Amino acid sequence: MSAPQNLFDVVVVGGGPGGYIAAIRCAQLGFRTACVDDWTRADGKPAPGGTCTNVGCIPSKALLQSSENYEHAGHAFADHGIEVKGLAIDVKKMLARKDRIVAQNNDGILYLFKKNKIAFFHGRGAFAGSDGDAWKIRVDGPGAAELVAARVIVATGSKPRALPAIAFDGERILDNAGALAMTAVPGRLGVVGAGVIGLEMGSVWRRLGAKVKVLEALPAFLGAADESVANEARKLFARQGLAIETGVGITAVALGNSDVTVSYTDAAGAPQAETFDRLIVSIGRIPNTDGLGAEAVGLALDERGFVAVDAQCLTNLPNVYAIGDVVRGPMLAHKAEEEGVAVAERLAGLHGHVDFNTLPWVIYTSPEIAWVGQTEQQLKAAGVAYRAGSFPFSANGRARALGDTAGFVKILADAATDRILGMHVIGPFASELISEGVVAMEFGASAEDIARICHAHPSLSEATKEAALAVDGRVLNL
Ligand code: FAD
Ligand code: NAI
Repeated sequence: MSAPQNLFDVVVVGGGPGGYIAAIRCAQLGFRTACVDDWTRADGKPAPGGTCTNVGCIPSKALLQSSENYEHAGHAFADHGIEVKGLAIDVKKMLARKDRIVAQNNDGILYLFKKNKIAFFHGRGAFAGSDGDAWKIRVDGPGAAELVAARVIVATGSKPRALPAIAFDGERILDNAGALAMTAVPGRLGVVGAGVIGLEMGSVWRRLGAKVKVLEALPAFLGAADESVANEARKLFARQGLAIETGVGITAVALGNSDVTVSYTDAAGAPQAETFDRLIVSIGRIPNTDGLGAEAVGLALDERGFVAVDAQCLTNLPNVYAIGDVVRGPMLAHKAEEEGVAVAERLAGLHGHVDFNTLPWVIYTSPEIAWVGQTEQQLKAAGVAYRAGSFPFSANGRARALGDTAGFVKILADAATDRILGMHVIGPFASELISEGVVAMEFGASAEDIARICHAHPSLSEATKEAALAVDGRVLNL
């Protein structure tokens, strides 16, 4: 007898990078799998892929590329002897390209669901009680249904955090979705929060012509990055015209007829005010458990509202797991994906594992910033004896040919064992270069290992090799 239609081995609630990848891996492992996701396109069609695909990683990188092309055409091309006359920008066309890329990704995920025989339910999923050992999930929306699941993976992601008592209005006070959808370049753009979104979106609109000011609460700039990288980034961003003020305290945000005024105290405590045409608020994100029915089944949240999980992503409920932005740890798409795969594999009796210490971080500004492992300040604080080696892109032939010589690669290695403890890159294609550091750390490599590996010439990766040589004081090209 075939199983009832809505009875599943695994139901994944949320179809972002955590959820849809978890569903695919579950299906590959032979589980009868369903995925529920409520993201909807303007025409009412489903738009799986979550924040990442719809209003995060993918559209932001599309606009970063478009705006970088524009900036290069306006400034960098002249140095190559390429003259561009009548340079103009069509923001609506730029946004339409971004929207097409998003839709391609949505459709790609729907195709992957079909290919892997995953039942997709378009709508909002909520716990509706239990049925013996199984869980009941009610789906409200176009794909309304009652599902019964032996195991549930919660992957409901996150949503933007607003300033206290200052709501996003989608017009002048914008969250990430609004920041990706402005149909004209604002003359004056304010950004609250100099984190990843603030720097990426601030860069996009600055390149397109906005006068951008970023207001950051913390006294330090990019506190999570290695200090030398953060200092270099701040210097380079200032040179580009991205104004960043740290140590501010926002005291009020007032809407005018067509603008928005931010009142704040500066680092010295003096009151200041600045008026913008648009304001992006990017001060972090909060877990999304709205309407999940957590209370109905006693799913425990932690003190910050994240679904509480152990190291294996198991919640307080039997056979209920949670992954991605809705649980502790970095809010990164690849972290969500890795947790999704790890949970699926554990369900199949395998040994899924995610090592937060080897998760790469990337900020897609220009220059790009990327790192993996420990920073110098973390090693110092932990009292770890280490050796550091750096190599600047200004001494790298490929970077010179690219005309992209800002920044450096830095490798940190244990002083006694030479094992790589961290790699930090600010410069061209840092997002790609960092993979070598991730692989090296996953394999427990030493700086000497990287130094002895043949790297293609001329390539940016030679800067990584040289940084590894520099750890031992035997850099070749400097
Ligand atoms: P999400 O992607 O948030 O997906 C959750 C999904 O579940 C959503 O579709 C949501 O609608 C749905 N959902 C929620 N509740 C329910 C429910 N009850 N029933 C049904 N469906 C539900 N990370 C990177 O690694 N690299 C980047 O370059 C990057 N860029 C970013 C740029 C921006 C502007 C933003 C905002 C984020 C960016 N991130 C980036 C972070 C990344 O988007 C998130 O870490 C990632 O999307 C988290 O994946 P997730 O699957 O946990 O959740
Ligand atoms: P974030 O945590 O990166 O940065 C928020 C910044 O706002 C911090 O520097 C914080 O000190 C500051 N801040 C907080 N409250 C403030 C206040 N009241 N006034 C002024 N500043 C304040 O968060 P962000 O940029 O919103 O991004 C959210 C998440 O999305 C991040 O955790 C990140 O992991 C993810 N993301 C990842 C990207 C990538 O991997 N390239 C790109 C964009 C987002």
